[in-house]
Amino acid sequence: MIDERILKNIPGLDTGKTVTCIDAKDMDAKTFAKKFVNTNTPVLIKGGLKHWPAYEKWPQPGYLEEVGKDSEVNYYRHMNFSSDSSMKASAKKHNFAQALTEMRSGLDEVLFAPVSFKAEGFKKLQKDMTGFPFIEKKPRPLAYPDARMFVYKGAGSNWHLHVLDETLMCQIHGNKRVALFPSDDGNYKELKEIFYSDALLKDENCMAHLADKIEPYVVDVEAGDTLYIPPNWWHGVQPVDHEVGMTIPYCWRSPYHKISNLRYPAIRDLYKDAFKKPGLPMLVVPFYGLITLFAQCIYRTKLLAGR
Ligand SMILES: [Fe+2]
Repeated sequence: MIDERILKNIPGLDTGKTVTCIDAKDMDAKTFAKKFVNTNTPVLIKGGLKHWPAYEKWPQPGYLEEVGKDSEVNYYRHMNFSSDSSMKASAKKHNFAQALTEMRSGLDEVLFAPVSFKAEGFKKLQKDMTGFPFIEKKPRPLAYPDARMFVYKGAGSNWHLHVLDETLMCQIHGNKRVALFPSDDGNYKELKEIFYSDALLKDENCMAHLADKIEPYVVDVEAGDTLYIPPNWWHGVQPVDHEVGMTIPYCWRSPYHKISNLRYPAIRDLYKDAFKKPGLPMLVVPFYGLITLFAQCIYRTKLLAGR
């Protein structure tokens, strides 16, 4: 069973725009940084992680079960909802190896288990992720872990965006379809309410009135591929097969000229929230704001100079 509500209920998918696709052997660090990260533009890097030992090892029955035989994870019998409170309410601790065995058993249910590589049992898996030639520098992300893993069957991630940090969606096993669009299109407030309440899953017509205003990109991500998902782009992710899949969101800190770009409403919200009550954010947010402003000046000067 695949929960298809994430992409079924979104308007504009039939006429979705195409994400640029570049073969991994043709992608270099300069092109990736200049054409895609710096300009906040998605790109599919075909076969981007096929050199990782994880690509061969992790899908083999028994390998991850052995690694996680003594570890507990949150185990959900539904997709990855956008509402944190819904996820917290339904989280059940479960032995990871048993959860994986159940997923592989042929059970026709939607199942989802997020894994932290910081947890003792899973730390050793990091040696199977050997980086990317097209990412030269990988500064520590501000809001997300460096990497985490979603193990799933029929379960996608409902619509959300990452306010901070760069994300490369790494598809170790199983195929997924991703739809995405930027959040600076004037509909942010309304979409935030719809997406983060998971209303789209309950009412298939709740976005009908936005049909003319939304122009999503659609891209199929196959096992071995990596998809660059820029910060402040809405994205919904759905499996297209019944495999026991593994996806790694791989994150790093954005270049300074992007960190607090005020063109995105979620960044503006970050400022508003920081000043609602005294606390550390009141110092940190303006600090990054000043750095970003300075970095923007340098970035734009370099662009004008054609460098
Ligand atoms: Fe995401």
